[in-house]
Amino acid sequence: MASLKTTFAGIECINPFWLASAPPTNCGEQVMRAFDAGWGGAVWKTIGEPITNVSSRYSSVDWAGQRMMGLNNIELISDRPIEINLAEIAEVKRRYPKHVVIASLMVESRRDVWHEMVKRAEDAGSDGLELNFGCPHGMSERGMGSAVGQVPEYAQMITEWVKEVARTPVLVKLTPNITDIRVVARAAKQGGADALSAINTINSITGIDLDTFTPRPNVDGKSSHGGYCGPAVKPIALNMVQSVMADPASVLPMSAIGGIGTWRDAAEFLLVGAGTVQVCTAVMHYGYRIVEDMIDGLSQWMDEKGFASLDDFRGLSLPRVTEWKHLNLNYKIVAQIDESLCIGCDLCHIACWDGAHQCIHTDRVTGPVDGHVEVHRKPMEAVHATMSSIAVTRIPKMDPPAVSHGHYKAPLARIPRVDETECVGCNLCSLVCPVEDCITMKEVPGGLAPETWEERTAKLGIVEQC
Ligand SMILES: Cc1cc2nc3c(=O)[nH]c(=O)nc-3n(C[C@H](O)[C@H](O)[C@H](O)COP(=O)(O)O)c2cc1C
Ligand code: SF4
Ligand code: SF4
Repeated sequence: MASLKTTFAGIECINPFWLASAPPTNCGEQVMRAFDAGWGGAVWKTIGEPITNVSSRYSSVDWAGQRMMGLNNIELISDRPIEINLAEIAEVKRRYPKHVVIASLMVESRRDVWHEMVKRAEDAGSDGLELNFGCPHGMSERGMGSAVGQVPEYAQMITEWVKEVARTPVLVKLTPNITDIRVVARAAKQGGADALSAINTINSITGIDLDTFTPRPNVDGKSSHGGYCGPAVKPIALNMVQSVMADPASVLPMSAIGGIGTWRDAAEFLLVGAGTVQVCTAVMHYGYRIVEDMIDGLSQWMDEKGFASLDDFRGLSLPRVTEWKHLNLNYKIVAQIDESLCIGCDLCHIACWDGAHQCIHTDRVTGPVDGHVEVHRKPMEAVHATMSSIAVTRIPKMDPPAVSHGHYKAPLARIPRVDETECVGCNLCSLVCPVEDCITMKEVPGGLAPETWEERTAKLGIVEQC
């Protein structure tokens, strides 16, 4: 059985699954229940000066029957006194010495204040510190959170202050609300950070109430921009984590965050180099017990793939992300429809005609195919031809339908066909098709050797300017 044990920036972890700094890690009682459920670590809800929260404070985006595809919050850091949080961290560590507790910190941007906060958090027994340079709302207006994380010089300076006194590993939590996340990752590394975590939430307004005209969440008739997270942000987080991990000037042990809710999500972040993963929204939605599936699923997948430890596959996908100019221009795929699975819904045809390259047809080929020139006939002609080919009078209860063509879900006339000579292999039809595996993309050997844009332009003597 695969082992999920790992060491992150020198911290021993029983598994890579940590709770992110957020409501699920608000107090000791919660963190202990989470550890009982199977979580290997918890980043405590950010501790700082006493904070007041507003009501309401969350809003969300639903999508196609799925609640909370994206969650938005205008919550601030912990609204419980610092000394209570620290006393609870001490108690949790006393009872769960093998589990990881990271203190997330955010205080005024003053050296002495940071020094004092770091010492207090470490004295309480935290295994590491996470500097919250990411919170995009409320705190940033007071010169903290993303106000620090958006200015590389500040991020580096505060990291240096913290490192002057820290005895435990220091993680810098990065904000995605920046043009290039690597710039601050590099600054944190320059400042001596031992590890990174990414991403914090993305600035958002989730929606506006069309009766009251107030954006959500509504605080007595007004709202504010908030931080977006949950399944909707996973692609953004995956890209940002990959870009940091592929950059030699920023790479450090990475605790990946953003839309992680299943073992598959976790595996994907580990494949782009993450050391541990953190989860917030999925736990707010479904509770601590989702970690059971995450542990089982990841270890079973590792067994299937023959990976004995996380290090066996960590970062394997990193070199597979490259610049566009390095992609093989001679690689060609085309769409293929499995007619026995097609339900004749017509979605692929519409998508290809209006949104792609007009090469899915609903009429059947009746004549010879000469390059992309084909002789078509109208669907109803096909139906009539099939019916008239039946020699005896049909008995509806006994005979198959007039247009039947075997164990197929749709009449032949409703099953589209792909003109492969015109298909550009964009994938759109396979993405919209509601039936799994009905449209697959097949490689068609073009007989040409692989060639990238860079190679082609170099051959032609073209010097690119940008
Ligand atoms: C309600 C709420 C409160 C949060 N509070 C904090 C916080 O105090 N400190 C922090 O670093 N991140 C905070 N976050 C951000 C999460 O730690 C995490 O970075 C983000 O939600 C992305 O992960 P997810 O997609 O799994 O939710 C908060 C998120 C939510 C939804
Ligand atoms: S892959 Fe794109 S171009 Fe080809 S059939 Fe599908 S939608 Fe049309
Ligand atoms: S191939 Fe898929 S999308 Fe196209 S008609 Fe059949 S079921 Fe619908």
